[in-house]
Amino acid sequence: MFKRVPGTKDVLPDETGHWQAIEEAARNIFSLYNYREIRTPVIEEASLFNRTLGTTTEIVQKQMFLIHNQEDLYALRPEGTASICRSYLENNLDKTNAFIKLYYIGPMFRLERPQKGRLRQFHHIGCEAIGSTEAILDVEVISLASRLLEGFAVKDYKIKINSLGCPKDKQTLSLNLKQGLQKEKQRLCPDCQLRLENNILRVLDCKNEECRKIVKTLELKNSYLCQDCSSHFEEVKNGLNSLGIAFDVEPQLVRGLDYYNRTVFEFTHSNLGSQDAIGAGGRYNNLIKELGGPDIGGIGFAFGVERLLLASTLPEKKVSNNLVYLITLGETAKSAGIKLLNQLRSCGIPCETDYLNRSLKAAMRAANDASARFVLILGEDELRKNVISLKDMSNSTQREINLEDLTKELKC
Ligand code: HAM
Repeated sequence: MFKRVPGTKDVLPDETGHWQAIEEAARNIFSLYNYREIRTPVIEEASLFNRTLGTTTEIVQKQMFLIHNQEDLYALRPEGTASICRSYLENNLDKTNAFIKLYYIGPMFRLERPQKGRLRQFHHIGCEAIGSTEAILDVEVISLASRLLEGFAVKDYKIKINSLGCPKDKQTLSLNLKQGLQKEKQRLCPDCQLRLENNILRVLDCKNEECRKIVKTLELKNSYLCQDCSSHFEEVKNGLNSLGIAFDVEPQLVRGLDYYNRTVFEFTHSNLGSQDAIGAGGRYNNLIKELGGPDIGGIGFAFGVERLLLASTLPEKKVSNNLVYLITLGETAKSAGIKLLNQLRSCGIPCETDYLNRSLKAAMRAANDASARFVLILGEDELRKNVISLKDMSNSTQREINLEDLTKELKC
């Protein structure tokens, strides 16, 4: 028998109610903030991600699902931000909107070692606000993320924030780190020894125990921030305080993607073990320009839906509990039944029948298992008299009604 690909998941009907509840809450809350949905393809040119996420990042070096198509190299998108910025420019949204708020829900792909909360196909609920560098936008975006978490009934989450500053500040931070880490080089894992040379910020989020110990001993402060970036960060923190949003400033938070600058943030949850980040995001003020667009800022975040579901207590979205279950007895009734079902569905009444030629008793059991509110019984006799038996499953009463009156009866 075929098995699903490692690191992918089948979302079975018993689970989809939870997915729908989360997605519905997200859509409602995004519209409170005037975000509009965008849907981009799951497949993009691989070079889009090399260019934006950075060639030395884990994702680009090790985790891209690549597809060779003659001369072209495509990738299954590992994240949404790069695709949305590509689409924003390709569709000239920058020409028609000085500022735009977009949200997305969909699958992402990373060739990672699967474990609890870490998949190769996972889903993002995310958003991007493009066109402004104002600190009030950072505050609004973080407050939107925390309102979403409340909407998803995720409790006990933590918000960590940091500022990476402008590209020049990031360089200073890298230099400071290099000085601090050089003397510990031999104790770092082989990957971090390389990172020391080509992407030192990545050392800060290495999961190796020994590397973590070394990083903990570093005295990191936000002293590398220039005046402008420092006051931007102050404004963000003051704004969050004014909204009563609790956060921790975490100078070691640098995020795994190259496009970030200034504000970065992460949401963690205590019950998720080592994969405790339920969402993350930040500012990317050079990304649009890097892709050939105007020099404008952007900020966004994404939640991992599978991790949200592990942390959420939101009840599942219920399907209609007014299901009508039709049981037919005999061949003529069966053909009349298919027309009747069609008619009921045209009137917006959810209905179902038995497709297994079961006995009346077994079909009644099936109706019960399907949580039907009403059962209709149609036999040759009923057909001749132009009536149908209607059983109300909530009180087990049964009566005969005229076929013409059926939709009226079921609608009330
Ligand atoms: P990210 O931190 O790479 O950021 O991913 C966001 C969230 O996706 C993570 O916090 C985690 O919950 C979930 N996630 C990531 N990888 C996996 C995985 N392999 N399995 C399950 N869940 C996973 C981004 O992707 C940025 N694009 C976020 C952003 C939007 N920044 C600005 N705008």
